[in-house]
Amino acid sequence: MTAELFALNLPGLTQLPGFAHGEETALLAAVERVIAAAPWRQVITPGGKAMSVQMSNCGAVGWISDRRGYRYSAADPLSGRPWPAMPEGFARLAARAAAVAGFAGFAPDACLINLYEPGARMALHQDRDEVDVSAPIVSLSLGLPAVFLWGGAARADKAARIELHSGDVVVWGGAARLNFHGVLPLREGVHPVLGRRRINLTFRKAL
Ligand code: SIN
Ligand code: FE2
Repeated sequence: MTAELFALNLPGLTQLPGFAHGEETALLAAVERVIAAAPWRQVITPGGKAMSVQMSNCGAVGWISDRRGYRYSAADPLSGRPWPAMPEGFARLAARAAAVAGFAGFAPDACLINLYEPGARMALHQDRDEVDVSAPIVSLSLGLPAVFLWGGAARADKAARIELHSGDVVVWGGAARLNFHGVLPLREGVHPVLGRRRINLTFRKAL
């Protein structure tokens, strides 16, 4: 743990501002290698709407959505091939963050990679397609800042607004593992490295 590490807490959510500072260049290079093999794509919800966020995955399984529903799949539906392996640095970083948040031994097998451009958003939802919800969710933000909505167990619960910056990590689990969360429409901006983009990685134990 580094000396400057500090954590902020809302019920069920551990915020680790700047947790990945110093690793962003390496993390982005690894994201680019994943995207070269499994390109960004627009995902359709079961209801037939195109999500405003573009997605890809790495790891043993990846989160997909289509007319048939939401699920994890070992194959990238675009190529029919397995998703790119999870870069070692990703799993290590996620495990370190999880441990700080009180979840020792976190071993993610899936990493959903979301790309936001200005206006893209993620409506309030639960992450509930994972078999084992005793493992936490670890989320890493890169690029433009975003407002993360941290709700409660019910969709109607009032959501806290948390600004997430490049290099920030948040972790949720335990009693809050199925809490609703989302992201407000990304504001216009230019990040020195990512330009008009935000990339979010969520690490999950899906199987
Ligand atoms: C998600 O809930 O999958 C994404 C969260 C984020 O982009 O911060
Ligand atoms: Fe989510």
